[in-house]
Amino acid sequence: MKLWGGRFTKETNQLVHNFNASIGFDQKFFRQDIEGSIAHVTMLAAQGILTDDERDVIITELKHIRSEIEDGTLEITPEYEDIHSFVESILIERTGETGKKLHTGRSRNDQVALDMKLYIRDEITECDGLLLDLLRVLYKIMEKHLDTYMPGFTHLQKAQPLTLAHHVGAYFEMFKRDRSRLADIYKRMNTCPLGAGALAGTTYPLDREMTARLLGFDGPTLNSMDSVSDRDYIIELLSALSTIMMHLSRFSEEIIIWNTNEYQFIELDDAYSTGSSIMPQKKNPDIAELIRGKTGRVYGALMSILTTMKALPLAYNKDMQEDKELTFDAIDTTKGCIRLFTGMVETMKVNKEAMKNSAKHGFTNATDAADYLVKNGVPFRDAHGIIGQLVLYGIEHHKALDDLTLEEFQAVSPVFKADIYDAISMETCVNTRNTIGAPGREAMEKVLENHQDYLKNAGAL
Ligand code: ARG
Repeated sequence: MKLWGGRFTKETNQLVHNFNASIGFDQKFFRQDIEGSIAHVTMLAAQGILTDDERDVIITELKHIRSEIEDGTLEITPEYEDIHSFVESILIERTGETGKKLHTGRSRNDQVALDMKLYIRDEITECDGLLLDLLRVLYKIMEKHLDTYMPGFTHLQKAQPLTLAHHVGAYFEMFKRDRSRLADIYKRMNTCPLGAGALAGTTYPLDREMTARLLGFDGPTLNSMDSVSDRDYIIELLSALSTIMMHLSRFSEEIIIWNTNEYQFIELDDAYSTGSSIMPQKKNPDIAELIRGKTGRVYGALMSILTTMKALPLAYNKDMQEDKELTFDAIDTTKGCIRLFTGMVETMKVNKEAMKNSAKHGFTNATDAADYLVKNGVPFRDAHGIIGQLVLYGIEHHKALDDLTLEEFQAVSPVFKADIYDAISMETCVNTRNTIGAPGREAMEKVLENHQDYLKNAGAL
């Protein structure tokens, strides 16, 4: 059962075995482990280290093991130390002497480094697909809400009017960057550690280029010690996942605020809300809150691995086994959150009237009113003062700027004419802002065209 019993005279203490074992969690990458072994023996045979017959026996049995684990007929049990020992032991049990040759020119150190890279590559691809799906849903929302006016906030105070399309567009950019971050990580990590051995390569004439190619890597890693000690890509991934979670969390926070009784900008779908056990009227945004909450867990994984790695001497140390559970958890958590978030925003109802009303009643057009004066010859600093007075007047009389009479405007400055109303209407405020990145309709239509191309190129539309 053990791969290393030879030099020992005693059985391992049971508690030590339990403490040391990783099979409870590294069984998650049994597919990757078998894929790596198949590439390894293919190369060993090509190099004349194994015969073609031995290769075929091993590969056939590895494939059986894989499908039996998949369909549940072969159970992974805790008496093995890790998934590598498990697969190799079963192989030897079934093929005898031939199976014993699988591990020629390989160490579990390069094996686990490979498995983890293969696993993470697959997960990056999956996360990317989920982000793409989210981007498609955000794009649909944007397309539908080019004229849905709402207040833009700074300090969570109403600032200037914009549209829901523009607000959602900000997140579109963030998740787009998240995708490109994942792509960068994939590219940088895509070198194959197999063949690095325990730390110093091997004396067998391994063709590392070949295994790298067979496993879809850009090439082999170039230093055998680095190959088995590098966990940078995990740190990068957890940092990228933390950033994704941070974006989801900020958006969730806004959704929670928008969904409050006070705002009522949106209403979450019943299928994405939960109730209270005591208060019958309640409909709570638990999903958004949980996404916000789970962000801490993913940040925790990043801190944990950074701390684990910080003083490790080269090359492999068992500390590094700690990279797995937290990475798996962070990946699963992030994937779950992206998926849930996508469904939540796809099904939420937007209350256009409440949004517009809120924008109208927060003096969000005050800057535009000042600009109106500037266009009519008043220096900006004076214009700022005049509008400030009108805002104060409006607050005292419970009136929005658009609701003031012309007499009221003119009582503060004679520069105001009847065209002030048009100049400060919500439509004007938003749609005259058409510089690149601004919320005006013209600018936004161009943005939507770009997004459409982006999604089409990625095969999402
Ligand atoms: N389970 C181990 C890990 O995850 C595999 C590598 C074991 N190597 C060793 N030298 N003990 O890191």
